[in-house]
Amino acid sequence: MTMSSWSKTVAVLCSTLAVLFGLAPVCPSHAAELAPLQAVPIPANNPQTPAKIELGKKLFFDRRLSGDGTMNCATCHNPELAFTDGLDISLSYPTTKNWRNSPTLIDAAFRKYLFYDGRAKTLEEQALFPMMSAFEMNKNLDYLEEQVQLVPEYRAEFRKVFGGEVTRERIAMAIAAFERTLISKVTPLDRFLKGDESALSEDAKKGLVVFKGKGKCIECHDGADLADDRFYALNVPENPKLLDDPRVTTTMRFVAKVYHYDGYRNVREDPGRYLITKDAKDWKAFRTPSLRYVSKTAPYMHNGVFGTLDEVIEFFDRGGGPGSKVLKPLGLTPEEKRSLKVFLNEALTGEDIVVKMPEVP
Ligand code: HEC
Ligand code: HEC
Repeated sequence: MTMSSWSKTVAVLCSTLAVLFGLAPVCPSHAAELAPLQAVPIPANNPQTPAKIELGKKLFFDRRLSGDGTMNCATCHNPELAFTDGLDISLSYPTTKNWRNSPTLIDAAFRKYLFYDGRAKTLEEQALFPMMSAFEMNKNLDYLEEQVQLVPEYRAEFRKVFGGEVTRERIAMAIAAFERTLISKVTPLDRFLKGDESALSEDAKKGLVVFKGKGKCIECHDGADLADDRFYALNVPENPKLLDDPRVTTTMRFVAKVYHYDGYRNVREDPGRYLITKDAKDWKAFRTPSLRYVSKTAPYMHNGVFGTLDEVIEFFDRGGGPGSKVLKPLGLTPEEKRSLKVFLNEALTGEDIVVKMPEVP
């Protein structure tokens, strides 16, 4: 589907007005097109080499990265669960409690912003967060550098890959290089977009029509990853599990404090993107997630509050959570909902991404 130049003009006008007036409307789509799988962007300052990827893979599975030696990255991004942990609220360091759902790492290499609130921009920058985070791996990075440096095999590999000693930056670079290999396989939608009419079932094709038309999903879930890398306040309901658990409240206030939010002692819910921008329009706004492999990444949303795609579709059909300014009720028929679900389940998932377990030194 190509957009007419008229609708492009409207889109540009709308987003210009939105910027001028500080509004966050859903403009008639910035791109509003789907596209087949693209090549992974590789940053010039961290080129991929097989030895670096292998080193990153070992570190990804190394429990030394956590304070008490029980967790590695795969604990919460398990290759067998599409690089999630399959839980609504992710696992956490003993005695603490996480507040968000563990997202898949598939295609994270394509994201312009990482985390639900977009607080990291590159995989290199992102990788140190979970290690340092008091409620995730809780590892002191100065300690980790010395610990890894003392493992002869690692020392040799860091010299070979980076021409130097172990540093936290190099640990992050190697892990990022490995993550850039966790890329979606060709999906039925990719084949369909390249002209293979038989790649989608009749039901899935009907679902695609709803996705692009009456359902308006494409206004945010567009491009090759079905994600526009923007942030929206859909008023997703709070996960009841998170309310009134003092460990979760501690986590929320800790993050809010780290991000210099003055009202951190009053935080009882997830402020989303607001914590990063302090811009009122970002209150409880979260990044549009990719829908690749969505059939395997339940539970859904930043807080895992929806266990099934049916619940997600009902949510969008209602026009989002109460008071959402971003979404409007859709009035989908039961048949339209059903075909939309078929599309989400059948069209967007490729073969499993198999990772051969490395031998951690
Ligand atoms: C205790 C569970 C846990 C562990 C261990 C963990 N993560 Fe995560 N990861 C999460 C959660 C939860 C989020 C979402 C947090 C947020 O958005 O605030 C996340 C987010 C991410 C993201 C962002 C993905 C996206 O789409 O924005 C990447 C990349 C990532 N983790 C990589 C890693 C790496 C690399 C490691 C190991 C160094 C690791 N994680 C260890 C739970 C975990
Ligand atoms: C205004 C932008 C927007 C529109 C329109 C939109 N979405 Fe989303 N979608 C989002 C955002 C933002 C999230 C993440 C919300 C969160 O984490 O709390 C999301 C989350 C999802 C998820 C959960 C994915 C995951 O891994 O957790 C699914 C599935 C989804 N949307 C499907 C759809 C469908 C189907 C439609 C059309 C009926 C649609 N979306 C319309 C912005 C949008």
